[in-house]
Amino acid sequence: MKPKVLVTREVFDDTLDYLAQHCEVEANQSDAPLDAQTLALRLKDKQGVLCFITDRIDEALLARCPQLKVAANVAVGVNNIDLAACTAHGVMATNTPDVLTDTTADLAFALLLAAARRITESEAYIRNGEWRGWFLKQMLGVDVHHATLGIVGFGRIGRTIARRAHGFDMRILYHDLMRQPPDVERALNATYATKDELLAQSDFVILQMPYMPATHHLIGAADLKKMKRTAILINSTRGGIVDDAALVEALKSGTIRAAGLDTFEGEPALNPEFLKLKNVVLTPHIGSSSEVTRAAMAMTAARNAVAALTGGTPPNLVNPDVTARN
Ligand code: DGY
Repeated sequence: MKPKVLVTREVFDDTLDYLAQHCEVEANQSDAPLDAQTLALRLKDKQGVLCFITDRIDEALLARCPQLKVAANVAVGVNNIDLAACTAHGVMATNTPDVLTDTTADLAFALLLAAARRITESEAYIRNGEWRGWFLKQMLGVDVHHATLGIVGFGRIGRTIARRAHGFDMRILYHDLMRQPPDVERALNATYATKDELLAQSDFVILQMPYMPATHHLIGAADLKKMKRTAILINSTRGGIVDDAALVEALKSGTIRAAGLDTFEGEPALNPEFLKLKNVVLTPHIGSSSEVTRAAMAMTAARNAVAALTGGTPPNLVNPDVTARN
């Protein structure tokens, strides 16, 4: 008998075709959100789930899914999954690294450029019929080229952003828990800095670390005050890493110049004050959203699920200490 898998949100047809070769698939192609109760009911007789950052895979759910062997997240971030609970219940948890690195780095850089050169503000100005003609001081922005970029979180995506910055002749600072080996620093032309040094010296600060208790409000009011008044903050990693209320105040008071945000605390219910500010560029958590990348993420998750359900070790297991259920 084929193992049973639930796909909790809409995916691409080829993902379903691949899964169907190995599993009995129940798919939510209408994309109607499944609340915790519905998710638990539909997972009761399933061995696998392809889940998303909008699904909470926690102790309460796992306790109600005695047959579940694998939770294959269609995301690199796994902050929606309680990994300790998965391990305790013998459930393998997997993610989708690598396939989204470049696309996500592109979006961070797009936000940086848009905030620096006031792209979305300029577009709104035209669309609102406010443009009366050219003048010298129109929509003055800041230069990206030759500016200092500080990257907080220097994993795969952070390092890929650094490569983007080379094309703009930027000086690159980075901060992370672990310092990179000298050959990596040399190759990326990146200099290690403490968090405070990075905040004080950077014209642009990009955040690129996972969300977890230790990174909750990593950037708060006190940190924003350490930044240059001309600096621009980019958060396209996870809501909750920035204290959004403090950021609103910093943007209003001129503590920093601008921000580019793809992720928000409590999204999609973002702080309404952001909508009133011209000096913030807003996108709806689309960091990995190119056609190719989202398809690759879904297929990677499907491969992880199938590996787990056919007795193998999924390539992207994130709780390697798990003793998988038989
Ligand atoms: C991820 O992969 O973590 C993204 O945020 C989902 O788009």
